[in-house]
Amino acid sequence: MFEHLNEQPKDKILALMQAFKDDPREDKIDLGVGVYKNAEGVTPIMRAVKQAERQWWEQETTKAYTGLAGDPAFSDAMIGLVLGDAVARDQVAAVATPGGTGAVRQAFDLIRMANPSARVFVSDPTWPNHLSILKHMAIETVMYRYFDAESGGVDFAGMMEDLGQMRAGDVVLLHGCCHNPTGANLTGPEWQAVIDLVNAKGVVPMIDIAYQGFGDGLEADAAATRMVASGCPEVLIAASCSKNFGIYRERTGLLMAVAQERGLHAVTQGNLAYLNRQNYSFPPDHGARMVSLVLTDDALRVDWQAELEDVRNGMLALREQLSSELRRLSGSDRYGFIAQHRGMFSRLGLSPEIVERLRAEHGIYMVGDSRINIAGLNRDTVPKLAQAIIEVGA
Ligand code: LMR
Repeated sequence: MFEHLNEQPKDKILALMQAFKDDPREDKIDLGVGVYKNAEGVTPIMRAVKQAERQWWEQETTKAYTGLAGDPAFSDAMIGLVLGDAVARDQVAAVATPGGTGAVRQAFDLIRMANPSARVFVSDPTWPNHLSILKHMAIETVMYRYFDAESGGVDFAGMMEDLGQMRAGDVVLLHGCCHNPTGANLTGPEWQAVIDLVNAKGVVPMIDIAYQGFGDGLEADAAATRMVASGCPEVLIAASCSKNFGIYRERTGLLMAVAQERGLHAVTQGNLAYLNRQNYSFPPDHGARMVSLVLTDDALRVDWQAELEDVRNGMLALREQLSSELRRLSGSDRYGFIAQHRGMFSRLGLSPEIVERLRAEHGIYMVGDSRINIAGLNRDTVPKLAQAIIEVGA
């Protein structure tokens, strides 16, 4: 049987991670995979998470299964974090999932069950794994214009024109904040225009929010998701705790299905739990437990928010530094968009050949589309990156 298997294409981001590990150069710089690193290049366990783990080690009395939807306290806490009071709790069906990717996968599964002919519109570009999962599931995918390489901002006119092709029952996948891979995001009025279009067309928005707290702050980063949740009849939301709680390997995420029609809550919740049972049965609990402990304990929450703010401000300072260093060296404002972008990533707009030269000649690793992870830099490596970009003639 196994002889019928074909080689699968390598995930570009994970392949880059391996190539970086294999590179013996001491001064190499990893701007690849989206994992936060501090100035020492370490991905720390956040203080509040560590403290919650200590407390939980004392308190935990059993490892028996949780519910199929995960621990309800986790859903409640995360719904509060992401949606605030934008919608009533009984309008939100939710299940814990293995990471944000698990939530994305379950959302696509739910879409396919509810409407097998739904097409999913995705931004060009988007996180490559969105495309890979959609392809694997044989769900028809349509790209909409998103990034204006010239300005480094959003091509909003192109986006709206392409979204004009959507039909009732289709789904549009949107990044709630901190767009991956570009770093370019919609403004409030642009979000409202998307909501109006989606509603006029009878399309269901799906939001992937994996970087809440990495852009303009926890509340500001959730604002668009809240607008969509309260402004559309039905919305799917895949939230990740990997980055903002720094618990990548614990695989902690939540899928929310918001319906204004309250009569749909029970059947939606039942279908989400069913999907968990079919795909992996019970979701992992440890990371989810840490998140609900942190979010429901005042002292832990305050400390977590303070540390997350330091992370966010550190990345903003690196953006400013890189942008001004490039302005100084190039004598132009060509890279001014780096300071305007938000989140962990910026797409620099360099050709694949230049990206390859940066790797080969300077040991600088970025994704082939020239996405950089800002958190892979520190005050000392920013000038090196800027100098290298100028040297390779970008
Ligand atoms: C990324 O985009 O680098 C992260 O979301 C990590 C991943 O799984 O690809």
